[in-house]
Formats: sequence, structure tokens, C-alpha cells
Amino acid sequence: MNNLPREFAEPLHRLAAELSPLASRVVWHAETGSTNADAAALAEGGGPEGVVVLADLQTAGRGRLGRSWSSPPGAGIYASVLLRPEQGVARLLPIAAGVAIAEAIQEVTGLRPALKWPNDVYLDGGDAHPPRKVAGILAEGGRSGGETWVVVGFGINVLPAALPPHLTRATSIESELGRAVDRGELLAACLVRLAARYMDLKAGRRASVLDSWRTRAASTFGRRVEWDDGGAVVSGVAADIDEDGGLVVSTTAGAARIVSGEVRWP
Ligand code: BTN
Repeated sequence: MNNLPREFAEPLHRLAAELSPLASRVVWHAETGSTNADAAALAEGGGPEGVVVLADLQTAGRGRLGRSWSSPPGAGIYASVLLRPEQGVARLLPIAAGVAIAEAIQEVTGLRPALKWPNDVYLDGGDAHPPRKVAGILAEGGRSGGETWVVVGFGINVLPAALPPHLTRATSIESELGRAVDRGELLAACLVRLAARYMDLKAGRRASVLDSWRTRAASTFGRRVEWDDGGAVVSGVAADIDEDGGLVVSTTAGAARIVSGEVRWP
């Protein structure tokens, strides 16, 4: 953690006992392409579980489905964690990570984030405002040396400057709260919650993770969603997630299970 700014080093040091097995090492970049790419390179090189790559600025931040993630300097949290889970745990990590980041934002800010499958973190403005995305998670995995690795990357819009101007269904924590938020405290809370949810999965407490996800996604159940299926747009009503984190949707042709990609609110 040698060159890690004090803003991050102090809360991580204070919460060290709650971070295990994460953050045994934190790699800091004032600027990098993508912390996910950096963490994946560490994974391929045999890096240990728990390493966190953190950046102030990403020049090639990656989003889900090949999109980019806007990452201007000092405006957000851009972090990736290297994990080495068993296959069964790996499957539910994207769901667990969504729960963890939503819990951390709530703990530090008092805002109450909702989740949209699989792990978009939203603030729901009730009838007055459409839901606005405040954080995103990109889990990428591979195998090396006979072991599975997963990089869980998360980006949180902290300042309004984090948002590209054309995105209307996005927001930042500070614009919602109307006050400054300590990025170090928020990062530390994210890692503490991610460690706790990871340990839930490892200890077989999948139901606790799935139920927490369901509670935060409650407003999306019963809502119409649409998705792309082999070139066609299909729609149905979101009903639940299953034991492996797939979204169960009721359609006129029966229940459909979505395991990858994204769903849209029409
Ligand atoms: C999404 O599309 O919602 C996922 C966005 C994930 C962005 C984060 S920022 C830190 C990490 N590094 C990346 O390149 N992407 C993730």
C-alpha cells in the first residue's frame, strides 16, 4: 500500500480486521487503462487472492457487454478485486457483488440503492424520477494453472463529473446527497461488504445472498422487461432469480431463464 493516498489508506488500515481475505495488497494507479485488465494480468501471473487494484483515473474503463465506463480523475471509485473461488461460488459472485456494493453505499450515505439484474446499482426515485444508475459491476473470469480466477470490478459515480453528458439515466452519489462523500470510507465499506458476501458464498450461505438481492430488486419484480434473443426482442414479466443467479421471466410462451446479457425496462 506504499504509494496509496491517505484518503484510502487510513480507512483501509482502520478496517483491516474486517477486510480479510481482501485487500492484503492494494495496487494504486494515479492513471491506468482499466483496473480490471490490470487485475486480470495479475491473475494470469499467479497473483494472490484478495489483491485490489485501485485507480484515480481510467483511460479505457470497461463496462458490461463491451461498453466503456467513464472514469474521469477523482470523480469516482474505480476498483477491481482478484478472487480465486470454486466454480459454485464463482457463479454467484456477480449477484453477491451487487448486493455488497449496494449495502456499502447505503451504510456510508444513507441512500437506499436498488438492484437491476444482474448487478446494476440504481437509485429509484419512486414515481417522480426514473431509476438512475449510480454504480456498475463487471465480473470477468478465466482459468490459469488449473484454477479459476474472477476479477470483480466496480465503478461508483461519486461526483457529478463521473457521468458522461449524454447519459440521462445515471446519477452520482454527491448529486443525490447534495454534499461531499469520502471516497476512502466508501471504498473501504465496499471491500468490507464484498468480503462478507464472499464469505457467505464460501460458507454455503447462498440463500442469504439471494434473499438480500431479491429484497433490493423487489421493485423490478412484476415489471415488464425486454431482452435480445438471437436477433429478436423478447419481453415478459420479471418474476425472480434462481439458485444460480439467472433471471426468471414469465412470458406468454412460459417461464424463460436469462443467464447472460441484460434486460431493459421498455
Ligand atoms: C457496467 O457496465 O455497469 C459495469 C461497469 C464496471 C466499471 C468498473 S470501474 C473499475 C473496473 N475496471 C474496469 O475497467 N471496469 C470496472
